[in-house]
Amino acid sequence: MRILYVVGTRPNFVKTAPVIGALRERHPEGRHTIVHTGQHYDRLMSEVFLEELGVPAPDHLLEVGSGSHATQTARTMERLEPVLVAERPDLVMVPGDVNSTLAATLTAVKMGLPVAHIESGLRSFDMSMPEEVNRIVADRFAQWLFLHSEEAVGNLQAEGIPEQRMHMVGNTMIDTLVALEERIRAAGSAAHLGLGPGSYVLVTLHRPALVDGPLLGETVTQLAALAQQLPVVFPVHPRTRKMMEGLEPDAPGLHLVDPLGYLDFLSLIADARAVLTDSGGIQEETTYLGIPCFTLRDNTERPVTINAGTNTLLGLDPAAIAGIPAALTERGDAPSEPPPLWDGKAAERIADVILS
Ligand code: UD1
Repeated sequence: MRILYVVGTRPNFVKTAPVIGALRERHPEGRHTIVHTGQHYDRLMSEVFLEELGVPAPDHLLEVGSGSHATQTARTMERLEPVLVAERPDLVMVPGDVNSTLAATLTAVKMGLPVAHIESGLRSFDMSMPEEVNRIVADRFAQWLFLHSEEAVGNLQAEGIPEQRMHMVGNTMIDTLVALEERIRAAGSAAHLGLGPGSYVLVTLHRPALVDGPLLGETVTQLAALAQQLPVVFPVHPRTRKMMEGLEPDAPGLHLVDPLGYLDFLSLIADARAVLTDSGGIQEETTYLGIPCFTLRDNTERPVTINAGTNTLLGLDPAAIAGIPAALTERGDAPSEPPPLWDGKAAERIADVILS
């Protein structure tokens, strides 16, 4: 069997690495081809992740880079098509909900190639998010849908997707965390910033709704105020860095740092008092690790993380950041449980389904 994996962004690597590992091990006689679209291309956003996660060097680099949605999607489709013609895969695997996912799904489906979608069925019900459009298209056309939480079943059923295509396998992003947990715990990244465990708030923000407009300035002001009570560590995504030009405050306790590798970043999550984010994957990683997460968005496609007791939706409202210290005091050390099947074995289950 020839399996071709299409990855393009930081979270894609984390979600796909264990699947590539499991399938290569269980089906060594197969052909496993990795295509990197190049949607993320800075060393800190790409190579570092592939190296740390033990993903073999990609067989094809499409180098699509940045651009408008249409440009990025079209460029990926145009460059992927000849690769699919040459490789003739029996299955194209796509993870997540980024533009690379959308482009790869459309290209493969139009060539009559079966697609498998990792992390299927998540919905924010907010069509202004590019990811929502990407997910819906991937789920509509993929033949194999790999789900990580119960609500995905209802979301897909509501769109008329037959249940035979759905496979509840668990969370492959958590597989990566489980596989590297010892190294994550040993990394001690907070100490390198002079911070003790449980003493700081870790922040990530990169979504257009928050960083591409006036809310960013207000958010930075709120972070500077929060840092007077609890140190704030903020690894800044390149998109956010660009938008923050001229806004960088000189606030003691606010550590603005470059994007971090996987191990360093997960070590910072594991030792944080709390995390403030607009990311999807980080809502899941904090849930597994039992770290309080405050999500600066109006909605989440991952309500399972709220039910688990770790995640709180703050709304798309920078002023809500001021309430974090009080919320933490009130919350105390409330217990939390990872959702079912977030156990490090999701990729094995995907391999079971594909190889049977
Ligand atoms: C993309 C995904 C988003 C995901 C995020 C994870 C889409 C629509 N969005 O958002 O769902 O949560 O990745 O990080 O697919 N840039 C660099 N270097 C890089 C990559 C990006 O400087 O290696 C800068 C460029 O200015 C670029 C901007 O970041 O224009 C945005 O990058 P892009 O890949 O379009 O979207 P992300 O914001 O990273």
